[in-house]
Amino acid sequence: MARHRVRCLLAAALLLVAPMAAAQPWQFCGQSGNFSANSAYQSNLRQLSATLPKNASAALFAAGSLGTVPDIVYALALCRGDANASACESCVDNAFQGGQQLCPYNKDVFIVYDLCYLRFTNRNLLASATDNGSPMMLMNAQNASATAEVFDAAAATLLNATSGYAAANSSRRFATGEEAFDAADPTIYGLSQCTPDMSPDDCRSCLGGIIALIPQYFGRKRGARVIGTRCNYRYEVYPFFAGGSMLRLPAPAAPPPAPGPANMTPPAHTGGELQICGQKSVSFGVNL
Ligand SMILES: *[C@@H]1O[C@H](CO)[C@@H](O)[C@H](O)[C@H]1NC(C)=O
Ligand SMILES: *[C@@H]1O[C@H](CO)[C@@H](O)[C@H](O)[C@H]1NC(C)=O
Ligand SMILES: *[C@@H]1O[C@H](CO)[C@@H](O)[C@H](O)[C@H]1NC(C)=O
Ligand SMILES: *[C@@H]1O[C@H](CO)[C@@H](O)[C@H](O)[C@H]1NC(C)=O
Ligand SMILES: *[C@@H]1O[C@H](CO)[C@@H](O)[C@H](O)[C@H]1NC(C)=O
Ligand SMILES: *[C@@H]1O[C@H](CO)[C@@H](O)[C@H](O)[C@H]1NC(C)=O
Repeated sequence: MARHRVRCLLAAALLLVAPMAAAQPWQFCGQSGNFSANSAYQSNLRQLSATLPKNASAALFAAGSLGTVPDIVYALALCRGDANASACESCVDNAFQGGQQLCPYNKDVFIVYDLCYLRFTNRNLLASATDNGSPMMLMNAQNASATAEVFDAAAATLLNATSGYAAANSSRRFATGEEAFDAADPTIYGLSQCTPDMSPDDCRSCLGGIIALIPQYFGRKRGARVIGTRCNYRYEVYPFFAGGSMLRLPAPAAPPPAPGPANMTPPAHTGGELQICGQKSVSFGVNL
């Protein structure tokens, strides 16, 4: 599997930043240094921000770079597969503005909204289509009434199925699904997505790597998201995507199957402390 041990420039930021907000956006401000006002870096960033949102609206994805070392800026934006073109464009446009407000003059910013995310950086994040960076992890603090073992296995089974579909059966590399569950949580809803330039195999293994995090980080939580540069998922016990589920799974048989896709080892948690973000959600990151 392609779980890359990349040097992560963002991880250290987790130890420094103030608690994250309970609602969007969520951001990692990187450790690559600052640019100054009226610098070439700022000018390159400004020009990227003028064209990338529009480009993203067509394929719900755009990546590019502008300038030359040391002022080159790389950027990558992905909109959720159920976003329409205008919502995508305005989400990415907001992300450029929000990222610069929340991480002022920072060269390396990862900012996540419900409908899109954006990373801009002086680091060549386009060199590898499998580098998932340091994923942002968000979770609903509420516990399911089922045991962790049963709930987590159901969530992993659903995400494994949506991931398989996203990787193989969709040119957008996006899929949604739902799974019947129990009386307290009648349905679990899930969504998986990769950047559309990834191969099916790379997409599947990227998603497999982050699905494997569920038992370690999200035990029994009624909702969670992991958003890496290249692949992401989300599950909740309420519907949160447009257009209805592409896949429908029956309730898991009792006793439940072993959780998660095979041969995935969760990575060590190196991202530092958990960040408590109010009653509803917490967010944090790991190095993969
Ligand atoms: C970068 O800018 C921020 C905000 O202006 C400031 O807090 C931080 O100290 C600066 N970092 C460096 C390395 O200059
Ligand atoms: C946007 O698309 C145009 C036309 O395809 C291309 O020339 C330009 O480089 C793209 N810009 C970005 C930032 O992706
Ligand atoms: C696009 O999506 C947004 C919100 O998701 C919605 O408010 C808007 O009406 C949609 N626009 C079109 C043209 O469908
Ligand atoms: C969820 O369960 C954990 C232990 O499994 C407990 O520490 C935590 O307080 C519970 N959270 C809520 C919101 O009830
Ligand atoms: C994961 O999905 C694949 C199909 O995409 C299936 O063959 C495999 O059995 C599933 N694994 C689990 C644990 O659900
Ligand atoms: C993808 O589509 C093929 C053929 O349409 C189907 O056999 C397969 O089960 C689908 N895979 C998933 C994961 O839905």
